[in-house]
Amino acid sequence: MSECYEVEGWQDYKMDYDRPHEELEPIVKEVEVVGAGLKILESRGILPHTSYDADKMLAHRQMVRDEFEIPWTAITPRMQRLLYAISAIVQPRIAVAAGIFCGNTFVSCVAGGVGEGACYDPDRLIGVEIERKSAELARKNLTKIDKNKVVEIKCEDAIDTAANFEGQIELLYLDADGGPDKGKGIYLDILKAAYDKLPTGAVVLAHNSVNCADRLKSYLAFVRDQSHMRASMNMIIDPEGLEVSVK
Ligand SMILES: C[S@@+](CC[C@H](N)C(=O)[O-])C[C@H]1O[C@@H](n2cnc3c(N)ncnc32)[C@H](O)[C@@H]1O
Repeated sequence: MSECYEVEGWQDYKMDYDRPHEELEPIVKEVEVVGAGLKILESRGILPHTSYDADKMLAHRQMVRDEFEIPWTAITPRMQRLLYAISAIVQPRIAVAAGIFCGNTFVSCVAGGVGEGACYDPDRLIGVEIERKSAELARKNLTKIDKNKVVEIKCEDAIDTAANFEGQIELLYLDADGGPDKGKGIYLDILKAAYDKLPTGAVVLAHNSVNCADRLKSYLAFVRDQSHMRASMNMIIDPEGLEVSVK
């Protein structure tokens, strides 16, 4: 079943990928849009509650602005806040992010556990990037903020990471791009490889649920089937979108 939270005017909430820190709207509006989305996720049993520390979120944002080298990104301020809030609310002991490029998306979805926005102590936060130069940049960026040494950057195929993983993945973030043949369709391969390592209650996040919906058709059908994932919600807060699913 397909359920969505669709924010009015999302089509006009556009970012310039080359200007990662540009403000797109008053912060009050951003807080309101994300807060309403969190309430919907809570109402569907995907999140246990909606509370996160808004000051820590801003400290996280400032830290990324000060410390990270970001060649480009499609993570809007709304998406950054939503990912931060999910990380701070779910507080996964182990999180795995697939296809992290320079590390900006990765740091957003694990920000409750590392850096200036941290609100708990995780065991392992693992970012996977297949391309060597991007993995090196992600490592350089994350090393600057990882005081407690909880972050691991792996330069490998995320399907292999998932298939060979030992332990329970409590949060899985999908953002890999499988090239001209597969594109974002690779999400389903990664999820299937990780599936038996996801405990009940594990949260799976898939970026580009809106602008790559065609390539994600099989993935979206899989997570919206309640025999696979207990609930799933398409968060249409910007032109990229995020599918949030719980096992
Ligand atoms: C489109 S980028 C993600 C960018 C991100 N959405 C942002 O806005 O910053 C996708 C990344 O996935 C990586 N990737 C592609 N296939 C992968 C795989 N099988 N395993 C791990 N990473 C992969 C690519 O090298 C690329 O850096």
